[in-house]
Amino acid sequence: MTTLEYLNDHKDKFLNELLDLLRIPSVSADKKFDGDVRNAAMFVKDQLIAAGVDYAELCETKGHPIVYAEKIIDSTFPTVLVYGHYDVQPADPYELWDHPPFEPIVKNDRIYARGACDDKGQMYMHVKAFEAMMETNTLTCNVKFMIEGEEEVGSDNLEAFIKEEKQKLSADVILISDTSIINNDTPSITVGLRGLSYLEVEVTGPNKDLHSGVYGGAIANPINILTKLIADMQDEEGRITLPGFYDDVLEYSEAQRAEMAKAPFDLDHYKKELNIEEVKGEKGFSTIERVGIRPCLDVNGIWGGYTGPGSKTVLPSKAFAKISTRLVSNQNSGKITQMIIKYFEENAPKSVKVKVTPHHGGTPAVVSTHSNGYQAASKAFEQSWGKTPIPTMEGGSIPIVALFMQELKIEPILLGFGLDSDDIHSPNESYGLFNYYKGIETIAYFYGHFSQISKKS
Ligand code: BES
Ligand code: MN
Ligand code: MN
Repeated sequence: MTTLEYLNDHKDKFLNELLDLLRIPSVSADKKFDGDVRNAAMFVKDQLIAAGVDYAELCETKGHPIVYAEKIIDSTFPTVLVYGHYDVQPADPYELWDHPPFEPIVKNDRIYARGACDDKGQMYMHVKAFEAMMETNTLTCNVKFMIEGEEEVGSDNLEAFIKEEKQKLSADVILISDTSIINNDTPSITVGLRGLSYLEVEVTGPNKDLHSGVYGGAIANPINILTKLIADMQDEEGRITLPGFYDDVLEYSEAQRAEMAKAPFDLDHYKKELNIEEVKGEKGFSTIERVGIRPCLDVNGIWGGYTGPGSKTVLPSKAFAKISTRLVSNQNSGKITQMIIKYFEENAPKSVKVKVTPHHGGTPAVVSTHSNGYQAASKAFEQSWGKTPIPTMEGGSIPIVALFMQELKIEPILLGFGLDSDDIHSPNESYGLFNYYKGIETIAYFYGHFSQISKKS
């Protein structure tokens, strides 16, 4: 039996197992779900054992466990290290879901659930591709799996793990499916991810909430101050005003930009999908460039004062915001974090107190298009999709990717199959069955090409 025949014979099984995984609400950011996060780890471990690994274990960390497993078939064969994450983003706001986020359903050939694409669906494709190769005796590489439970909260404990376990994690390539393709007619391979710096700001005015008539106009309102400070961080041309913010930004040549512009992009469709009249961003750059090669700064959440029904005349004591920047090569997350802290401390008026707490950061990553892994991935797409994939720079972040390169000195390959329309992190996240099955097939082909290419080089 060929791998493809095996895949076609086991579509229902592959789908049902993923649905079982999606039923586990493994939200890493919320302590309330800690037990479920562990259950998801155990599920992945058990499925890896069932698929035929030599052994699988939960590696305990200060936070959520890392699932590690391996199948060593021949020490002279190349080794593929698969990375993915079993944790998911919070599903809030629940009321915006058409169907409960942890009760997956299949509708119009799509799986709807939190994590359907990011990253349970994409990570599980690797478990099933491995099973198919084992069952059909077609596995040509050693495989190591490292599936973590803290990607959505910054991968802090994975960082410590990879620094300590370099020997265990030695491999010839790191294979990751946690990114997107342009569309199902235009496969692509992600060669760039943005980094980030994420902070929380707390502005305190008076020591208690006050009557907004009795005190209004006479003392500083922390919400007014905070929103002004935030607004001042960007100018009319969509540029970030912090002194030095762009100092380390790598500028792309006209030739590189022209190459990037060749990737298909339909601005009208993009606007229509989001129901917006106009896009907005840094002057002088296209939408693809704004997301792929330029940094940005955004408020991710803001609160304070009275937000309940009706009105309450109150002058709040405190205001809060969560702010993220997305960074590109060669910006340094720590440096940008300090820059933002300094901005708030220096620019907040004496009438308020300001406290800035950094959350997580991440280094941007740029991946080579010349590696064995890239060549193998390209050939795998040609075999399954019938098209040569285009290299793309994506706006999202997987902070651990830069660390893999730095610490393990292994070139990662971002073989993702998601679509922008999968609505990851949003209500009604989904993943197309076509992408799920086609992804499994492509991953299986990757192993064949990778072992061939590795032999030659
Ligand atoms: N899989 C995403 C990153 C991604 C999505 C890359 C789409 C490219 C295309 C990942 O799970 C993610 O959401 N990362 C976080 C990182 C953060 C929590 C440290 C992000 O980008 O917000
Ligand atoms: Mn992800
Ligand atoms: Mn994510």
